[in-house]
Amino acid sequence: MYSIRGVLYLGAFLMVNIYSYAQNSLITNIPNRNTISLNGKWQYIIDPYETGFLDYRFEERNPKDKEAYWNSDIPADKTDKLEHGYSNKNTLYVPGDWNSQDPVFLYYEGTVWYKKSFDFSTSLKNEKVFVHFGAVNYKADVYLNGVKLGMHKGGFTPFNFEVPDTLLKPKNNWLVVKVDNKRMKDEIPTLNTDWWNYGGITRDVNLVLVPDNFIQDYNIQLQKGAYDRPEKTIEGWVKLNAPLKGNVTITIPELNIKNQVAINGDSVPFVLRSKDLKLWSTKSPTLYNVIISTGIDKVEEKIGFRNVEVKGDQVLLNGIRVFFRGICIHEEIPESMRRAYSYKDAVYLLGQAKALNANMLRLAHYPHNENMTRVADSLGFMVWSEIPVYWTIEFGSAEVLAKAQKQLQEMITRDRNRASVIIWSVGNETPPGDKRLAFMSTLAKNAKQLDSTRLVAAALENFGLNGEQVVQDELGKFTDIIAVNQYIGWYGGLPDNCRNVKWAYNPKPMFFSETGAEAVGGLYGDSATRWTEDFQEWYYREQVAMMKRMPPNFLGLSPWLLNDFRSPRRNNPETQEGWNNKGLYDQKGNKKKAFYVLKAYYDDMEKKYDQ
Ligand code: GCU
Repeated sequence: MYSIRGVLYLGAFLMVNIYSYAQNSLITNIPNRNTISLNGKWQYIIDPYETGFLDYRFEERNPKDKEAYWNSDIPADKTDKLEHGYSNKNTLYVPGDWNSQDPVFLYYEGTVWYKKSFDFSTSLKNEKVFVHFGAVNYKADVYLNGVKLGMHKGGFTPFNFEVPDTLLKPKNNWLVVKVDNKRMKDEIPTLNTDWWNYGGITRDVNLVLVPDNFIQDYNIQLQKGAYDRPEKTIEGWVKLNAPLKGNVTITIPELNIKNQVAINGDSVPFVLRSKDLKLWSTKSPTLYNVIISTGIDKVEEKIGFRNVEVKGDQVLLNGIRVFFRGICIHEEIPESMRRAYSYKDAVYLLGQAKALNANMLRLAHYPHNENMTRVADSLGFMVWSEIPVYWTIEFGSAEVLAKAQKQLQEMITRDRNRASVIIWSVGNETPPGDKRLAFMSTLAKNAKQLDSTRLVAAALENFGLNGEQVVQDELGKFTDIIAVNQYIGWYGGLPDNCRNVKWAYNPKPMFFSETGAEAVGGLYGDSATRWTEDFQEWYYREQVAMMKRMPPNFLGLSPWLLNDFRSPRRNNPETQEGWNNKGLYDQKGNKKKAFYVLKAYYDDMEKKYDQ
């Protein structure tokens, strides 16, 4: 008799392969490739009835059906009837969610067709062209000049499709993307989330030009445990899109490293050594320019080298115990009520975290745009990156597991060279049960298989408000740290409930992955009045007092959260109006009173742990 776990795992493995077949392998390090940006104004058609995809009998349209919204909108002659068209009367900016660009889209959940026309005069010489999307929420069907390139599901991870060069025209190519952000029970995330369902082409779109034989992906990291050796070992691998017989050269100029390895196939491992390597750390986020070339293709980027590990009940960065002065962040700019996506947005959000004296970011509850992890690299933040396996997913479905595995793979593939990323999280507040345990433990194992150099976590819940708190969630057996979301004093009881709580010791490092209380920015009163900044301040004072009584395995916290954020679930007409106000910054970017309580605690912890 097969165990649930075995059947789930086998089924999911098969599904992942079917899924991955439907799409080209991810090309990494896009920001430093030869790209043509397709960002800017795109024309759109809003299509709540799926008219562009289904005929009046609700059957999928024939690919050549001229009424299909992926086909030309130019009438053949004056007698020709077309009931669709793209016009400059209806445009949306890409990258960007649609909700924030026009009131008609604020709560819209459905299909929007995007169209971008572009010329392509580049004469391809032994080159390939891909179209790459930083992310589209949630389902993207992509067509070029009426031909379908592929489909991708998942709102927060990148994907690319090859463009057959026979398809490209010198003038007026047109790229059509059907974007559908409807929430579905059997998707990742599922129907219920505590964040706004921002739809659209929410991140950059690029044409990527690569040689016929190109560097698809690569990994380069400090060897596990090498941090304290006089001569540091760096190891990694290079993956090409196709076999090559030749040499791969890895160069790190600042370290006078230039190693050549022979390759006779589509991948090759390599090992480098250096006595001069400076480790990446939060206090000294050293990054080196790494160049990888095959003589046909060349890629380069800034990479940091460090080790992270769990040793007993501590987390060590380069052998030194770390304390997480963390903060949770949604990918949102509250003042504009929009998804964050740009380098400027990342600098803004991480600047707010720096002001708090944070050294760690929990990028909730989904992989954020690539600017966030690259800016975190340069500013010296440790990062928890997470797939949106959030709340009550369909845990008994092998197909849903495959979708989660695919998003996990896309998240890890994109950011495996980011020194700042030290934790892969496989989910948040999933309800205990046999099917959920099989589902989540499989994801935890998958994360370890994909990347054995980082920690694996999941945000668990703990209930009960008084007395000894023991984290009983079985999923904790499969993660490297015990991460718990606790809201003692906000959800149930009042902040002084913290005084009755004693957290039991656990042999693994324990981390508060969330804690927080709402406060309407600028609303003041006595500290017992809920929704005031004074109440939130009291909450943080009680939490800090409790944290001073934690057992020795206490790893730190990432309070919920940096900024007030939009949620359709928050509908108190006086104090929420579609906002979850647990931010330490309010909707206009002003620091609340609680900000200063947490900052004072973080200043103390910085001195105590000297990092
Ligand atoms: C939960 C959840 C968050 C949510 C928060 C809240 O723990 O993880 O996504 O927004 O609590 O209730 O504010």
